Amino acid sequence: MVLILDGKKAAAEIRAEVKTEVARLGRSHGPPGLVAVIVGEDPASQTYVKNKEKGAIEVGMRPEVVRLPGSISQADLIAEIRRLNASDNIHGILVQQPLPPQIDEATIVRSVDPMKDVDCFHPENVGLLFQGHPRFAPATPSGVVELLRRNRIPISGREVVIVGRSNIVGRPLAALLLQKGETADATVTVCHSKTKDLPLVTRRADILVAAIGKAHFIKNGMVGEGAVVVDVGINRVPDGAGGSKIVGDVDFDAVSKIAAAISPVPGGVGPMTIAMLLKNTLHAAKMRSG
Ligand code: GUN
Repeated sequence: MVLILDGKKAAAEIRAEVKTEVARLGRSHGPPGLVAVIVGEDPASQTYVKNKEKGAIEVGMRPEVVRLPGSISQADLIAEIRRLNASDNIHGILVQQPLPPQIDEATIVRSVDPMKDVDCFHPENVGLLFQGHPRFAPATPSGVVELLRRNRIPISGREVVIVGRSNIVGRPLAALLLQKGETADATVTVCHSKTKDLPLVTRRADILVAAIGKAHFIKNGMVGEGAVVVDVGINRVPDGAGGSKIVGDVDFDAVSKIAAAISPVPGGVGPMTIAMLLKNTLHAAKMRSG
């Protein structure tokens, strides 16, 4: 029987832990403030931000959503971020991606105060992570690691193959897993669109992480018998009845027949990402409170 890596359950545990600490911190310093900046009307981004807001309320934080028009100039967006950087009761700032084409994402990422960068996207925080001294753990990658840890899946010494080299998932996940420590110390391979004979590499994995953004890209011929499979994909596809549904990067029905453990979509990594973001916001507020 395949073990289902239940992200809803693990995320609820993390939120409960964060809530306890938020209450404790709140008594002396007030509730942590988390701001999500959303530019334009991207429907997926609207949903993500709504879920982040809901999570923040649940754990007793003070969320704020700053909605800006898709036509905003880069200078005006930076001015807005500077205002948030300077605010004493805002501890975490995230600028939801993707941003409209007139905005340079890298410039925006660099304009967020690194001490409030709960996404861990700022180059200073990415540098600290890659040197093995993270200030913040990037939310989706640390959600993957935490999902494995809470299901008692050993990582140390094992071969982890990541499919996808994005700045949000693949690269920072590789950095996390390469750290020293019980929930790291992995041998890591990062695959991408130019990888030669991808199935040969992915079949070698003890733990296979799919973060490529293509619906059902990972088929059972790409997975070794008894592997642990973590699906980071969130892809909207037609449901065959005129509507749409969310599926992962892994062909769940086929792969769950040969894997030892697998995370579902939805209900796997998605809820973990939000829980880890809240954990980062708590950490940011604690750093500020000394
Ligand atoms: N877009 C997709 N994932 C993310 C994320 O984790 N953070 C932000 N800010 N934008 C995203």
